[in-house]
Amino acid sequence: MKTYTFTKSYEMFEEAKKYVPGGIYGPRSPMFLTYGSYPCFLERGKGSHIWDVDGNEYIDYMCSFGTNILGLGHAEVEEAAAKQAELGNSFTLPSNRWNELAKRLVGLISGMGWTVFSKNGSDVTTYATTVARHFTKKRVIIMANGTYHGSHFWCTHNTNGIPPEYQAFVEYFDYNDVAGLTAMFEKHKEDVAGVILTPYHHPAMGDQVMPADGFYNAVRSLCDKNGSLLIVDDIRCNFRLHLNGSHVYFGAKPDLVTMGKAMANGHPIGACLGTERLKEAASGVFFTGTHYFAAVPMAAALATMDIIEEEGVIEKIAKLGASLRTGILGLAKDAGLSVVYSGPDAIPFMRFENDPVFDVNRLFCGEAAKRGVFLHPHHNWFLSAAHTDADIEKTLEVSREAFAAVGEHLAKKGA
Ligand SMILES: Cc1ncc(COP(=O)(O)O)c(C=O)c1O
Repeated sequence: MKTYTFTKSYEMFEEAKKYVPGGIYGPRSPMFLTYGSYPCFLERGKGSHIWDVDGNEYIDYMCSFGTNILGLGHAEVEEAAAKQAELGNSFTLPSNRWNELAKRLVGLISGMGWTVFSKNGSDVTTYATTVARHFTKKRVIIMANGTYHGSHFWCTHNTNGIPPEYQAFVEYFDYNDVAGLTAMFEKHKEDVAGVILTPYHHPAMGDQVMPADGFYNAVRSLCDKNGSLLIVDDIRCNFRLHLNGSHVYFGAKPDLVTMGKAMANGHPIGACLGTERLKEAASGVFFTGTHYFAAVPMAAALATMDIIEEEGVIEKIAKLGASLRTGILGLAKDAGLSVVYSGPDAIPFMRFENDPVFDVNRLFCGEAAKRGVFLHPHHNWFLSAAHTDADIEKTLEVSREAFAAVGEHLAKKGA
């Protein structure tokens, strides 16, 4: 199979470095991928496909880090967005879409009585912890080791420039470790405001782990016993596992739920929802942002939710994801390679065994990218309703060659 070159991408990356610190910051930097084997800049996208600035086409399994659940440029979502854009987007006051979206979300997400809107996921995870602290009048937030809840000071993994005091009341435990969580509650008796968890554990650079049987019941009862709240951060999974919230999928009973990413099929919006008893405390927390009120993403969110509900999107992406999993595991086996494939089929992650710093996975994913399949070597992947059986078939063809390249590399190393 012919492999791609990325001349323009890397020229642009060099140019970007002149004007932007590091050129491209965060996980979208080519430094976080397989440098030289991936493009740096994209020009356009449609459905499940993206095209880079050198004209190379890819089947995209990052779905813009999860936002595209229906596919890029989805006609009905874009029509709803365009209709709203004609009326206006960013007004002096909230638009007519405010109540519509609030009512729709509160009706949809199980157990929740109110909602607020933001632009980013980090805005609402921070807000949720603030509501928990304000409601309980306690300080400590407990989160799982390795979890990402956003880029804000209290939880960011990169603490350059952040005084340690900003993370003073944040404690950690290992996901699923009820004894460890109990010990943390003991350590901070009377002072735990809340526990924040992703619906299942999806750390960067690690296998995805499902909640163990009884885990959520144990967390709930620890929270109830100690007068603390449970926050489920559904930003990465929302609408890929259950229409009424991933907490329903796993039988959790949260007090607060955060959403973002796929909510509006790529339009920027996040939300925090909470139970009725927290509403008054929530209204006492200062929460605003110039763009939080933008109407276009709200119109897009309304359309996105309708389509997910009406078109059986969750079932569709699970089925596509199952074909991908079966195919990839079969190919790895044929190539005599041991891989670990984890997470729900709609949000999978694959790595190689005995590959602690993901060198082999970087080779595999780089070889796939050079042949038109965009995976990620140390972040989970995403399926969308725009992926097709033909996409999966092509992905498997490409994966066969990428596994062969890995096999050759390992044979050369004598591994
Ligand atoms: C679970 C989770 N929480 C919070 C965030 C932060 O969202 P954002 O990047 O929109 O601020 C992310 C982003 O990846 C996430 O996956």
